[in-house]
Amino acid sequence: MKENLETILKKAQEEIIACLKPADLANVKSKYLGKKSELNDLLSSLKDMSVEDKKTFGKLVNETKQEITSLVDSKNKELEDAILNEKLAKETIDISLPATKILCGAPNILESVIEDFESVFMSMGYDVVDGPEIEEDRFNFELLGLPKGHPARDAQDTFYVKGDEMLLRSHTSPVQARTMLAKEGKEPVRIICPGKAYRRDDDDATHSHQFTQIEGLLVDKDISLSDLKGTVTVICKKLFGKDTVTRFRPSYYQFTEPSVEMDISCFGCKGKGCNICKNTGWITIGGAGVVHYDVLKGCGYDPNIWSGFAFGFGAERCAMLKYGINDIRTFYNTDLRETANFDRREDI
Ligand code: DAH
Repeated sequence: MKENLETILKKAQEEIIACLKPADLANVKSKYLGKKSELNDLLSSLKDMSVEDKKTFGKLVNETKQEITSLVDSKNKELEDAILNEKLAKETIDISLPATKILCGAPNILESVIEDFESVFMSMGYDVVDGPEIEEDRFNFELLGLPKGHPARDAQDTFYVKGDEMLLRSHTSPVQARTMLAKEGKEPVRIICPGKAYRRDDDDATHSHQFTQIEGLLVDKDISLSDLKGTVTVICKKLFGKDTVTRFRPSYYQFTEPSVEMDISCFGCKGKGCNICKNTGWITIGGAGVVHYDVLKGCGYDPNIWSGFAFGFGAERCAMLKYGINDIRTFYNTDLRETANFDRREDI
């Protein structure tokens, strides 16, 4: 029996050493320590022995069993360690690899031009107000001197959402009417309203069916065209540089009388002529005028007491000119390769 046990131990030892994978070890373990193992058979044969033999051989069988168990355990640890080490070796962090670049955001340039306008106007005491983009025909057209059937409506043909009563506003000018009506003709008005406007337009490099305007309205006593000219000139010098010269050309809008087109001297060539100003030396940045008698009246302000001026700047146009962008669609697509070029910060 003793020799038998030694042979079993030796064979088990050899097989355990030869194991390369945990699965092999599990097989060896069940072969030598499982229910159907030789050791188990030997244990069952003890029952036929004398008490004395039982003690001696029982002890020997158990010692062999313990020895095989500890051999299996240490081999198991050895195999697990090997697996772990192999995994760690593969996962080693290579600190010589260049780090992943973390992209850093930049302000949207259209938004920053609008914010520039807002801060200059706010410094002059203007409030920044909002208006609905889905607008009533009454505010968008009628109160601004464009009754139904007026031919000038065609130029601002837009998207109607409910019969002919509700539409996507074709300009930000309806905010003028809304603001005056809300103040019930009792107090002066000094507001700007930056916001989206919509028109049926063929989208190309300079036109978009959706674009941004910066509307302005001032109503007070004894206001004339010279106040408009002075205000716009100060604003343009602040926004486009102190050498900027303004020019006002006669124009026509239904809600202002007189009406003007606002031009600034080209900052690309300082008036000499270049491709930004199409060799004219001037750039048009919006429309303006003295608020029409009928508009004041229709919006609750007595035109014999109150007068005012209004203007509408094209925000994309100003941003395109300021940053030399030649396609309006650049503002609306989200291609970072394009927008990153307009990042003017120096500290990145
Ligand atoms: N609403 C005009 C447009 O979209 C721009 C404009 C012209 C606004 C004259 C005004 C203004 O407030 O007085 O073409």
